[in-house]
Amino acid sequence: RGKRAFIAGVADDNGYGWAIAKSLAAAGAEILLGTWVPALNIFETSLRRGKFDESRVLPDGSLMEIKKVYPLDAVYDTPEDVPEDVKANKRYAGSSNWTVKEVAESVKQDFGTIDILVHSLANGPEVTKPLLETSRYGYLAAVSASSYSFISLLKYFAPLMNPGGATISLTYIASESIIPGYGGGMSSAKAALESDTRVLAFEAGRKHRIRVNTISAGPLRSRAAKAIGFIDMMIDYSLENAPLQKELSAEEVGNAAAFLASPLASAITGAVVYVDNGLNAMGVGV
Ligand code: NAI
Repeated sequence: RGKRAFIAGVADDNGYGWAIAKSLAAAGAEILLGTWVPALNIFETSLRRGKFDESRVLPDGSLMEIKKVYPLDAVYDTPEDVPEDVKANKRYAGSSNWTVKEVAESVKQDFGTIDILVHSLANGPEVTKPLLETSRYGYLAAVSASSYSFISLLKYFAPLMNPGGATISLTYIASESIIPGYGGGMSSAKAALESDTRVLAFEAGRKHRIRVNTISAGPLRSRAAKAIGFIDMMIDYSLENAPLQKELSAEEVGNAAAFLASPLASAITGAVVYVDNGLNAMGVGV
């Protein structure tokens, strides 16, 4: 039987989540997506109207099939956690069962088990503010959406995961080195995500025999990255300073994720894997 993957954090065809879905589909996996509730309508409409058909083409010429798209808001674990104003919000009221626990239950009902869990989402409402100007609310919101969301997904999906399964998240070098402009506590959120990758690799490895890794990806002009405002500068910096002087494609990150999710990586867990043209290895720019 082919593997089944649930990829959280796909709402268009520009980001890392989409590229990971494609690489996994090319390797024969069945693809389930978790899409942020406010972005669900436009994503499904675009899918249906064929807007993504060109980017659905796999190396063998066939189109990536998306088995099912689930609405998801990874900052809420259970229905009890959802505040009244969010419940009443038009965009949320139009969908149901989108808390992490409910999505896991729906996937279990629909498909029974999964083999691969991908977390490709982040949100920091104050990302454009320096850390020194970040509010407590903004900081905690960044960690809730970008770090705890992975713990929550793993907690509720691990019981559905077949032994030998793998989980992958996406992180950024700002966790360990100063990247001016990556603010709002997002650098802290990525540091937490990387530390949690190690602790969760131990806990989920022992309890469920699944692997937990994170990919530290180089800069990509995704929707989320454009919102930060400095992505073109980071891409230029990498082109100039990285050991490999080429633009990083989302597909290169997708392929690394497919490797990490496969039995080829069966002894790799608790790792931060750099897929960044080697930029992380530089000490100074040249
Ligand atoms: P993206 O915009 O394609 O993906 C982010 C996704 O998160 C979006 O689909 C958004 O709808 C979703 N999202 C936000 N809040 C959510 C919530 N509460 N519940 C569910 N979904 C939610 O952008 P990108 O850049 O591909 O981001 C994917 C991951 O890659 C993120 O973790 C990001 O930090 C990481 N990354 C991105 C880099 C870049 O240069 N683009 C570099 C290194 C890491």
